[in-house]
Amino acid sequence: MVHRIAHLSDVHLVETRKTTGILTRLAQTTVSYDRPIEVEPRRQKLRAALAHVKDRADHVVVSGDLTEVGSEAEYESFAEILHDSGISPDTVTLVPGNHDVYVDAAGWKKACEGPLSAFRGGAAGEHGRVVERGSVVFFPMDSTRDQFFLRSGGAVAIEAVTRIMDTLRGASMRHKTVVVAMHHPPGLRSKNPVWQWFDGLVGCGKLLELLGLHPRVHVLHGHRHTLLDRIAIAGKNRVFGATATVDDAVGAPRVRFYGLDDGVLVPA
Ligand SMILES: [Fe+2]
Ligand SMILES: [Fe+2]
Repeated sequence: MVHRIAHLSDVHLVETRKTTGILTRLAQTTVSYDRPIEVEPRRQKLRAALAHVKDRADHVVVSGDLTEVGSEAEYESFAEILHDSGISPDTVTLVPGNHDVYVDAAGWKKACEGPLSAFRGGAAGEHGRVVERGSVVFFPMDSTRDQFFLRSGGAVAIEAVTRIMDTLRGASMRHKTVVVAMHHPPGLRSKNPVWQWFDGLVGCGKLLELLGLHPRVHVLHGHRHTLLDRIAIAGKNRVFGATATVDDAVGAPRVRFYGLDDGVLVPA
């Protein structure tokens, strides 16, 4: 049974040791313009976050930007630390962020077939995935799109939302707590059309509709690197954003925890 969910995000693990390609180096330097490319401190922050959640939650959601540019070496590094944490793969939900597909549009898929294969059952697949854990059902969703590394936006695949809607029509789903895990925040639109083009999420209308249709649907996301609690239904927020692990102080992990109150997530 899931009683307590941990949520961390935006780890931005970087790996330079096996990085030889010019594109990967250029991408790392560009997207890390406002933070130092320090391999070991970023690894330590992930280790600390996972150690912090290990015995404090029944399920862990990591909402994307697991790596800095999605290189093979970065995925290997992420997977190594996740394996070493000793957290059971059955209790982990992983989704990719825009950074995870910068140097290879198929990087996430390859990682799920390679270093992250043990966690594949709880990771976002091509058209969404359904992960039932007792009274809670998780829908890890891939909101990334193939784009140059100067853009950071996302897209919701209609197939994934349709799958969620179809699943929730089942009678057994009526009383479930529903957690959609995705990287980009749905329903946040910039007033600046240029920034919206660079960073916005497209196609999330149906997903927002879903929040009003089912009494216990929630979205856990990352990308904004800040705490965000939004979209109240029946007086309780349903959309939650987490801070970025990469921005933690070394040894001081910030992880969100949610308890359940009548099937609705309540931040602890
Ligand atoms: Fe990020
Ligand atoms: Fe992001």
